[in-house]
Amino acid sequence: MSEFSNSAESRENLIPDIALNNGVRVPQLGFGVFQVPPEETQRVVEDALEAGYRHIDTAAAYRNEAGVGAAIAASGVPREELFVTTKLRNGEQGQALSAFHNSLRALGLDYVDLYLIHWPVPSQGLFVKAWQAMEKLYANNQARAIGISNFLSPHVDTLLEHAEVVPALNQIELHPTYQQRDLAAKCSSLGIAVEAYSPLGQGTDLDAATVRERATSHGATPAQIILAWHLAQGTVVIPKSANSARMRENLAATSIQLTQAEMESITALESGARIGSDPAVAAFTQM
Ligand code: A2P
Repeated sequence: MSEFSNSAESRENLIPDIALNNGVRVPQLGFGVFQVPPEETQRVVEDALEAGYRHIDTAAAYRNEAGVGAAIAASGVPREELFVTTKLRNGEQGQALSAFHNSLRALGLDYVDLYLIHWPVPSQGLFVKAWQAMEKLYANNQARAIGISNFLSPHVDTLLEHAEVVPALNQIELHPTYQQRDLAAKCSSLGIAVEAYSPLGQGTDLDAATVRERATSHGATPAQIILAWHLAQGTVVIPKSANSARMRENLAATSIQLTQAEMESITALESGARIGSDPAVAAFTQM
């Protein structure tokens, strides 16, 4: 029996999961490793697995897949208890199959749970070609689900014109001050799950007075209030923290229920200002 399997039952109760459009279930609260330095990744992901996370989100472009894989191997957590996402690097959209196999090798896995196109990079004109390769990986069960990231409405439309498989999920920048509500609603109506990256606004949304007030009244922390707001909307979230106390704090957001008025007060924080790059023009092919 693995070191961590004793707590599997309580963890299942703790982290809700949602069904993707192909029936595959994803733990709604996962752990993101964007900006985790490669040399720290194994330690950070081992801490996350020990805290109870079972959904890990990485990307070839983060250059830390090997650390994720090392942590998974060291943890002893059975593979089938894990949900692992990685992403196709922009510069490899024309070679998605070989890029995928390089990711698998770095992760030390023989399949991933979710494989995403990291950015549309419309100027390259390659995301449809990449998707068609990913459909093959899906058909071969090397990726249990395939999806997209940073796809804006026109990119979703173009993809769907050519796709046989509807993406399972779109991972986008989404937090109280930047919600992309129209895009999220469109994805939901198409059966494409919405996943929030930078769900805490990379930490900047934690200082909003409304969030702090809600935290005080719930005896919770600002991060827990924002994560509870995401979870209540059915959004998949992947907060990042290098600190194991904050990893646990973020997991405990699953026990917080916000009232309708509290939900609305956080939704009212929309400012229209993104933190990350604009997917309409972002074209960094080194990623
Ligand atoms: P740290 O790694 O030092 O915990 P996002 O997931 O939106 O990108 O936000 C990540 C940022 O928010 C990181 O700087 C992280 O810092 C910080 N963070 C994550 N969880 C918490 C928390 N519970 N309280 C305060 N800051 C947090």
